Amino acid sequence: AIDITKLRAQTGYITLDPGYGNTGSCLSAITFIDGEQGILRYRGIDIAELCEKSTFVEVSYLLIYGQLPTVEQYARFKEKIHHHSLIHEDMKSFFTSYPGHAHPMAILSSMVCSLSVYHPELLKPDQTIDERDETISRLLSKVRVLAAFAYKRSVGEAFVYTRPELDYISNFLHMMFTRPMRGYVPDELIRKVLDVLFILHADHEQNCSTSTVRMVGSSKANLFAAISAGICALWGPLHGGANQAVIEMLEEIHRAGGCYKKYIERAKDKNDPYRLMGFGHRVYKSYDPRAQILKKYCDEVLNYLGIDDPILEIAKGLEEVALTDPYFIERKLYPNVDFYSGIIYRALKIPTNMFTVMFALGRLPGWIAHWKEMLEDPGMRIARPRQIYIGERQRPYVPIAQR
Ligand code: ACO
Repeated sequence: AIDITKLRAQTGYITLDPGYGNTGSCLSAITFIDGEQGILRYRGIDIAELCEKSTFVEVSYLLIYGQLPTVEQYARFKEKIHHHSLIHEDMKSFFTSYPGHAHPMAILSSMVCSLSVYHPELLKPDQTIDERDETISRLLSKVRVLAAFAYKRSVGEAFVYTRPELDYISNFLHMMFTRPMRGYVPDELIRKVLDVLFILHADHEQNCSTSTVRMVGSSKANLFAAISAGICALWGPLHGGANQAVIEMLEEIHRAGGCYKKYIERAKDKNDPYRLMGFGHRVYKSYDPRAQILKKYCDEVLNYLGIDDPILEIAKGLEEVALTDPYFIERKLYPNVDFYSGIIYRALKIPTNMFTVMFALGRLPGWIAHWKEMLEDPGMRIARPRQIYIGERQRPYVPIAQR
């Protein structure tokens, strides 16, 4: 065991807080969370109200600029996003250089970083406010195009461009699902569900990927580089990759005969590192409010599409057990946002390896808002945590022949 008193005597008073569970890294006015009560608000507005009355693009404005837009501001913001919806033609050849099986998160993170090559104004150490606003709408617009192109590349289909008469979400669906010789008319319920999913993903204060964006941005690396790093952080199965991991877990249970109770026992066994994906949350120790909203849409969309999927039956069984089993109740392990988002994405025919990309598209305005808030903070410092060194203090170098 490590003797903390002795370590303190040697290293001074550095706080040891593995996983930063109790360390505030910044002051922020973007997102309020009360994990005990299950409350999530963006700039003070409850997410349930935003999901009901707003759109993802309006919520993006709210998060990034701190206020709901006026009619003129909203129109200008949408116009700018539409204006930037092309990517440099050269970039199309980047997509074709990836093998067909490449994970779209790998493609997305490298493509977002590559975008900076085409925008030298990003490399200026200090952008003007206008340049920064231009960069923000450029990124918001182009990332969904890159995501849809990554998908088209993976299925070997031609890239589809945005259409001026479609809104942000419908355009994304259009770029994903329009096929050669076959059009695609986005359905209103599907558009609304995707809008809600993106709103619910839009920010969640200092999670792993947002803290990564802040950390990389604190060195004054450009926005595209910082977002690219955030996408990589989101990829992990303990963070954004969990929605993909949820479906993979359900498929595995289905392949093994559908007996989910065995998997619940495994998750409870302290000698087995196995965890049920889509359950538990670092911050929410009552129900995840995003999961509560999504559960309603999940039931609605499955009914509407008339989906009869054995995997969803397994999901319902797991959900029921988690809400009644003392192990899960004592540890406050409720289904989280990824549990339902994975199920909805599957119902919308989004391929499993695109789930985390969908999360990244939704989280984009939150990342941008935190990057902007950090740069505008007069007290901003480069992020540089300390450590408590527990290795050998000093050793002589031993020549290789004597080892
Ligand atoms: N299945 C079974 N047991 C679990 C699970 C789970 N999914 N999650 C936590 N536990 C148990 C732990 O074993 C621990 O038990 P113990 O007290 O007997 O040792 C207790 O619950 C607390 O777990 P911690 O690991 O301390 O919780 P932490 O807050 O660090 O982790 C996390 C949160 C990473 C989300 C965790 O619950 C987990 O791994 N869940 C599965 C992955 C997942 O769904 N991630 C998505 C998170 S949401 C998002 O990123 C948007």
